[in-house]
Amino acid sequence: MPSGEDPGLYWLAPHGPAVKQGGSGSSRRGGRETNFVEGAGAGGQGDGPKGITEPAAAWSLRRAALQEIAHLRNSVLRPGEDKLALFAEDVSVDTIHLACFANDDLAGCATAFATPTPDWWPGLAPRSTWQVKAVATWPWARRKGCGRALMSGIASEVASLGGDALWCNSRISAIPFYLSLGFGEVGEEFFIPGVGPHRRMFKRLGKKGAGTGT
Ligand SMILES: CC(C)(COP(=O)(O)OP(=O)(O)OC[C@H]1O[C@@H](n2cnc3c(N)ncnc32)[C@H](O)[C@@H]1OP(=O)(O)O)[C@@H](O)C(=O)NCCC(=O)NCCS
Repeated sequence: MPSGEDPGLYWLAPHGPAVKQGGSGSSRRGGRETNFVEGAGAGGQGDGPKGITEPAAAWSLRRAALQEIAHLRNSVLRPGEDKLALFAEDVSVDTIHLACFANDDLAGCATAFATPTPDWWPGLAPRSTWQVKAVATWPWARRKGCGRALMSGIASEVASLGGDALWCNSRISAIPFYLSLGFGEVGEEFFIPGVGPHRRMFKRLGKKGAGTGT
């Protein structure tokens, strides 16, 4: 984001509309402090190709129901396949499904759920470890900060729930994305049948939890 540009700030409303906040800082939701998530985005609508030529607007984030993000997930992560990109953890009580919008148009999604700390975790084990899964943005929304905003939102939400570390099985093509957010790579490349080669990636959250590169 160009320096000096106000990205717009939003708070996360579970299953409700994203609410734009004026200025920076934090606000209250349900009586507790809520971390803001910021990200520069662009206009666009629907899930078709968009000419995003308008000046950057803010991405807005909110919790979403699985049904809201299922089409995007399947289209991006399982294109042309009958197999659905659905996971057992999708329906766990604590699972976070986050959606990112440009105006009212769904642009991206990400899911996270608590897991035991993986035995491959390098160094001191974190207290509470969450797996990030099914991060996807529509092609029209890419390289505009949507994925970064989603991951910042996931980090904020996880931190607010006491989590202090994130990990994922990253597709090889997505490694630069996670590296740019401060994740590290660990272990050898491995193959997930029907999907392709992956690498494990991990990140400890900073004290504030949110943000990229903490
Ligand atoms: C991976 C994905 C979610 C990234 O979403 P995005 O909205 O494009 O991400 P952002 O615009 O926030 O990118 C943040 C940074 O990540 C890095 N990055 C993202 N995509 C990249 C790519 N294709 N090549 C190199 N770096 C990349 C860049 O450093 C980028 O910052 P920059 O654009 O200022 O250089 C998106 O490309 C996607 O949905 N891919 C297909 C599905 C997928 O592979 N999901 C991950 C499963 S593990």
